[in-house]
Amino acid sequence: MSRKPIIAGNWKMNKTIDDALELVRSIRAGVRDIDSVETVVCPPFITLSAVSDSLATSNVGVGAQNVYFEESGAYTGETAPDMIEGLVSYCIIGHSERRQVFGESDEWVNKKAKALIAHGITPIICVGESLEQNQAGETESFVRGQIEGSLDGLTAEQVANLVIAYEPIWAIGTGLTATPVDANRTIGISIRGVVADLYDEATAQSVRIQYGGSAKPENIASFMLQPDIDGALVGGASLKADSFVKMIEETAGALGS
Ligand code: PGA
Repeated sequence: MSRKPIIAGNWKMNKTIDDALELVRSIRAGVRDIDSVETVVCPPFITLSAVSDSLATSNVGVGAQNVYFEESGAYTGETAPDMIEGLVSYCIIGHSERRQVFGESDEWVNKKAKALIAHGITPIICVGESLEQNQAGETESFVRGQIEGSLDGLTAEQVANLVIAYEPIWAIGTGLTATPVDANRTIGISIRGVVADLYDEATAQSVRIQYGGSAKPENIASFMLQPDIDGALVGGASLKADSFVKMIEETAGALGS
């Protein structure tokens, strides 16, 4: 089964509306002829509408970085799925910064996934272990638990269409990366393998799983050559058009397309 690779830029809390429009103009031009890789940008909420308009007729998709799971109401500062429906195709949930800084739990990630799916938005569910867990040999069991908690109650069809990002916390923004072989092993055992256990092999072979954590033009091809890695969630290297476009080109090149 061939899964189309997906490279998504997580801009985090960066770029004004003007900066965002300039960046997506260049990205759009740079990836215009590449259809073998799905390109997605995930700007801050305040720029989503302008970016979405600007990319409307392009092959670059748009994602949000977070969402709340309720439909509406007294949730100061939050954004409902209904409000981003039509603007985005994807939404990152459970990023380690949201888990660590804002206390987001697997239970919340699960509620957010269900709320997004109900609005036709594909969740990009982030999981990954801390340095301490990694050093204590707890990566497999911890990531397994995150997957089980995040997918609770989802149907096989819903899971088959998800994107999951494996991001070891110690590799995010640090310049350190998991080795491609280690990342592939964790993804294969603790994510795809767990999906196969919880659902079936066909579902496991359908879900797209990204690597994230200091992915950049120089190392993306080595990750993409791994059989269980279907793209990347990119922070720092997605903030400049030349490095982000280069990553899409490298991905297409690594896959021989
Ligand atoms: P990084 O961030 O590429 O800057 O390490 C990745 C992420 O947090 O999604």
